[in-house]
Amino acid sequence: MKNYSIAIDGPAGAGKSSVSKEIAKRLGIVYIDTGAMYRAFGLYYLKNNLSLDEEEVVNMNVSNVVIELKNEDEETKIYLNQEDVTTEIRTEGASVGASKVSVYPKVREKMVKLQQEIACKSSVIMDGRDIGTVVLPNATLKIYLTASVDERAKRRYKEQLLKGMDVKLEDIKKDIEERDYRDMHRETSPLKQADDAILLDTSNLTQEEVIEEILKLCRERDIK
Ligand code: DC
Repeated sequence: MKNYSIAIDGPAGAGKSSVSKEIAKRLGIVYIDTGAMYRAFGLYYLKNNLSLDEEEVVNMNVSNVVIELKNEDEETKIYLNQEDVTTEIRTEGASVGASKVSVYPKVREKMVKLQQEIACKSSVIMDGRDIGTVVLPNATLKIYLTASVDERAKRRYKEQLLKGMDVKLEDIKKDIEERDYRDMHRETSPLKQADDAILLDTSNLTQEEVIEEILKLCRERDIK
């Protein structure tokens, strides 16, 4: 089969990245975490004390930001202007930065172009918010992965506790609701299910059940 692409979209905390990573491994294809790319992009402004609230400032600096994905030790590392920021992009600050920077059309234009270039070179599974609608409108398979706010908050809460972080379930729930609202209501490429995407609600499914369901949909499209 020639190169194919799987688009996974959905709100924060639906399990997109863990599921996509595992499917990439099982199918032997490349996994592209587009959220990580926006996180690295936002980090540039945070590191350089540049405002993410002024579009003009953001636009003036877009050409100074170079994002690269490199496969190292069976892991995809993300580089911002040649610096490995794979760990740094997971902080709460970087998360807010990503959510702010990703509303600007000039930023999205640059990231979408890079994402499309990567997808041209090999078979990929790509997760994000606009993959099925904008980045890969002709994807072989499109999934819209979601779960209730309560369930997503519970999952994130458990994750953070395991990391030894002191967090409150209510705060996480509020944060998820706010992020959903921002992602779904921004003007450029808001989060929405593509017309031809398959909706998968993971609220009552285990991770393995979700993976199995997606692999089944892959087989139906001759992706093996
Ligand atoms: O999936 P994530 O939490 O790592 O994404 C970080 C932010 O980037 C999130 O607020 C939404 C935004 N994002 C986006 O606008 N488009 C994408 N394709 C991926 C992420």
